[in-house]
Formats: sequence, structure tokens, C-alpha cells
Amino acid sequence: MKIPSFDAKSQYHLLAPELINVVSSVMADGRYIMGPQVKCFEMQFASYLDCASTISCNSGTDALHLALRALNIGVGDEVITTPFTFIATTEAIGIVGATPVFVDVDLETYNIDPQQIESKITERTKAILPVHLYGRPCDMSTIMAIARKYNLKVIEDCAQATGAVWQGQKVGTIGDVGCFSFFPTKNLGCFGDGGAIATNDPEIADRVEYLRRHGGKIKYQHEELGLNSRLDTLQAAILSVKLPYLEQWNTARKAIAYYYLEQLASVAGIVLPSVVANGTSVWNQFTIRVLDGQRDRLQQQLNQKGISTMVYYPIPLHLQKVHSHLNYPLGSLPNSEKLSTEVLSLPMFPELSLFEQQITVEAISQASANLSCIHEYV
Ligand SMILES: Cc1ncc(COP(=O)(O)O)c(C=O)c1O
Repeated sequence: MKIPSFDAKSQYHLLAPELINVVSSVMADGRYIMGPQVKCFEMQFASYLDCASTISCNSGTDALHLALRALNIGVGDEVITTPFTFIATTEAIGIVGATPVFVDVDLETYNIDPQQIESKITERTKAILPVHLYGRPCDMSTIMAIARKYNLKVIEDCAQATGAVWQGQKVGTIGDVGCFSFFPTKNLGCFGDGGAIATNDPEIADRVEYLRRHGGKIKYQHEELGLNSRLDTLQAAILSVKLPYLEQWNTARKAIAYYYLEQLASVAGIVLPSVVANGTSVWNQFTIRVLDGQRDRLQQQLNQKGISTMVYYPIPLHLQKVHSHLNYPLGSLPNSEKLSTEVLSLPMFPELSLFEQQITVEAISQASANLSCIHEYV
């Protein structure tokens, strides 16, 4: 038996007639770029998030890039962020010419530690860019209070957290801009690349709207350098079919997470993710910590039993070659470095069956018993 860490095809099979129908009608209609389905999806997504507007674009990476541009963040500016995230977060900061300033994460939440932010603020700091990692909302109350105190912008990286809530408000609508990814593995995924920004600020919405199409409000008139970053009409139509199911899928993820939490509670040698007190995680990943240097061995043992797991992320961003000029030595952000050697994401997607969850839990319990024997022997 093979248990994948993620299954891209199951949602297609579930919704095939509806999806085939909308895809065929877009193909027959011919308006493949900026067809009416794009605006329609943007309105539905804004209504789902409960914000003034969303503007779609062609990826979560571009959403971050466009957000930074819309906030006039560029050369000479610093943006405070986490080193324990996907490269897209700092790639966007670097591409606009700004410098990422890393703040270590909290070992319990895996998210940026808000208590360490203030000490990293300088005259050049323009924004804080928290990432709601694995679907878990950051402590937005503290982050927003710091931002207000120092007059900083807040750009939320919600790529892994569509639908997550912090104190009653969906993430992505709390800071100045929220950036979303519709990459297939995300909670709301399309069948290719896709992304969007969310904002309550009409000026930001307006600027992103024309930056994403070559920087021009009127066809063939270009005010500034922009991007070609439109969401395909086909992807927009697909996302409109999938959006009404998002809450139900997030609930299914939560049920799986709670099953894992309950069944793995007494397994030795691992630390389970904690449950958010002031919000709701959407469990894009269920990520455990494997202690005593046993992570890779546990992953191998699960792999031998056909259970696929993932390591997000094996190298924190401050130690990536691309950021070597920033001069963060090994040991400078110890929690992120520790997590990169310990984290293991278990199979997690809404359609994961109870039987597959049971097999996974059993395999981890058995492996953990074996690993502790080895450990005692050593
Ligand atoms: C935290 C985070 N930010 C940004 C992105 C970029 O999104 P995309 O792949 O749609 O460009 C991702 C995608 O994996 C992500 O996980």
C-alpha cells in the first residue's frame, strides 16, 4: 500500500463533471486571458475572506512581489521576516531590491517569534512579512501592535493558510496586504500556478491591478514597469468551482490533524504541533518534530512501508547560498536551524482516508519503538 503525502488528483475526480463543464466553456468562449471568470473569482474570493478586494495573479511568489511593489518597498529598505519558510518569501523581497532581515521562529508555533521583532527594527525597516506556516496563523495581534508603533507595513504570506483565522478574522485581511498561492498542494489549489493578493486598501488594489498587467491602466499606455502576472481564465474558472468546498476541505484537514494528535500523543521521541489558542489553523501540513537526530531514520522507515512524508524545510533561508552575502552565521537563528533538522510533515490532504491515517499512526508508533531501542543500545 502506498500513502502519498498529498494527492493532487482526488479533488479533480470528486468534481470532474463541474470542472470539465467550466473548462470546456472557457475553451469554447476563447477569452483565455482576463476573461470574465477572473473578475468573478476575485469577487467570490474577496467575499470568502471578507475583505474589500482581491486581485489575482499568476503565483503566490508574484503576489508577494506585487504587494511589495504596491507598498513602494525597494532598494535600501529592510523587511523583517522568518528564515523558516519557502524561498519565495525572501525571493520576492530580494527581487524588489530590499533586504530580508531574519527574526527567529518560536519553537512551539514554527512561526516568527513576535517577541524578537522589535530588536531588529532599524531606520530602514519598512515592513514585517509574517508567514502563516503550515496553515497556522501567526500572532497577528502582537505583530500589528508593533507595526503600528513603528509605522511599518504588514504583508501576510498566506500561501499555506487560505481560510485560517486569527481572533475571528481570516488571515490575509489583517495586515495591509495578504498574499495567497493557488499552487496545487495549497488548501485552495488550482491545476497549475495561481495566486492573489487581498486588501482593504483601494490604492493597493488599484496599483496591483495594473502592475500585474505590464504596469498600464489603459491598453498600450504604461505608467511604470510591471509584470505579466495574470491568472489564466481557465484557472479562475477552476478556482470558482473549488472555492465553495474550501471550508469543508479545511474541516476534513482539521479532523485528520486531531486524529493524529490523539493517536500519537503517547509516542516517544516526537513533539506534536500545538493547537492555536486564539485562532484556527487550516493544517496545510501536519508537522511533527522528531528528536534525538532520528528524523531521517524515521522518514526512511516510513518510506519503506510506502508512507510518504516531507521535510519542509531542510535548510533555513539564512543559510541558503543565495543569502550568503547577508552574513548570518550557523547558530545565529538556532530555533530555525533546530527545526530544519527535526521537522517531518505527515500525509495530509482532505481525502486521506481513516484507514490511511491508521496505517500512518501505527507505522510511526512501531518505528518510534524501534528507534528508542536503537537509541538505548547506542
Ligand atoms: C510560504 C510560501 N510562500 C510563498 C509561496 C509561493 O507560492 P507559489 O508557488 O504559488 O509561487 C509558497 C509556495 O510554496 C509558500 O509555501
